[in-house]
Amino acid sequence: MPDTQTLPSPPATVVAWGDPDRRSLRLLDQRALPQAEVYVTVQTLDALVHAIRTLTVRGAPAIGVAAAMGLAAVAAREPALTHARLAELAEAVAAARPTAVNLRWAVNRLLARAAAERPEQLVAALADEAQAVLDEDIAMCRAIGEAGAALLRDGMRVLTHCNAGALATAGIGTALAPVYVAHARGVALTVHADETRPLLQGARLTSWELQRAGVPVTVLPDGAAASLLARGVIDAVFVGADRIAANGDVANKVGTYPLALAARAHGVPFYVCAPWSTVDAATRDGVAIEIEQRGRDELALAGDRVVLPDGVPVFNPAFDVTPRALVTHYVTDRGLVEPPFTS
Ligand code: MRU
Repeated sequence: MPDTQTLPSPPATVVAWGDPDRRSLRLLDQRALPQAEVYVTVQTLDALVHAIRTLTVRGAPAIGVAAAMGLAAVAAREPALTHARLAELAEAVAAARPTAVNLRWAVNRLLARAAAERPEQLVAALADEAQAVLDEDIAMCRAIGEAGAALLRDGMRVLTHCNAGALATAGIGTALAPVYVAHARGVALTVHADETRPLLQGARLTSWELQRAGVPVTVLPDGAAASLLARGVIDAVFVGADRIAANGDVANKVGTYPLALAARAHGVPFYVCAPWSTVDAATRDGVAIEIEQRGRDELALAGDRVVLPDGVPVFNPAFDVTPRALVTHYVTDRGLVEPPFTS
């Protein structure tokens, strides 16, 4: 076992209670990074749903933790909370984004816990369960890091897509957790990060947190990834996941699928890292995964500048599906696992 004291703590607190009574949520506003480290306080259902939809908090595990803690906080502010009202609040939160299964998984955990409680005990029980979701996420990230670090050797060059690091979780990340664990053990690694159009999670977030952790990182346009792989300067691709279907198909940030194709074409291993809360045994395969479609402005605007002629439509899926056949290993908190996934 590594010396856990040497593991980096997350570069910032992504999600936390906003007050000691657990009646609000504090989120790092990821829309402002890397220019500013600012936090928002969430106290209402509308504010919680807005924060998830607008990617104030993003990344599948972080969304799940924020949903659990946010739901508990919002419920605590209800004048006379009932099971029926809690179910309404829960459905509104779970529907905020469709693809990351961690969101509904976390909400369902709170509902399952609530089912056994009397109305007057609901608020405390929900907060305790949300705290458990937070604590477990931190532990799952650590376990993914341990399992994945065994795949890394001194001098390896890693390519990643989007942000599946600490900023996407409550802990040290998923795809970047093995990098952090190995780095803490003195293994020399370099990371290339796809910028990740259109919201630039790779450029804005992955490079920010790796730089803070002292891991050398280079950012590239998404379209350069295949030629980088062709040059033979990448030893492994590590990505996260928003949902893994029972057959092993993986929904992750759009651009993951072409990266997996290019990695296969050039003989580079392609690792998917995720906590067990991302595995959705109830969804048979990738075709059954709902892919979030996002708005035109994400493509029509570059900052304040209009870059699309009026009237030109867009195709802007937030995620794509990588077929199981392109995945070398699934790295989870239960170790390296293989589909089919049944629980
Ligand atoms: O739209 P986002 O930023 O929420 O998308 C995030 C991703 O696709 C991540 O790769 C995924 O959630 C895994 S995060 C550990």
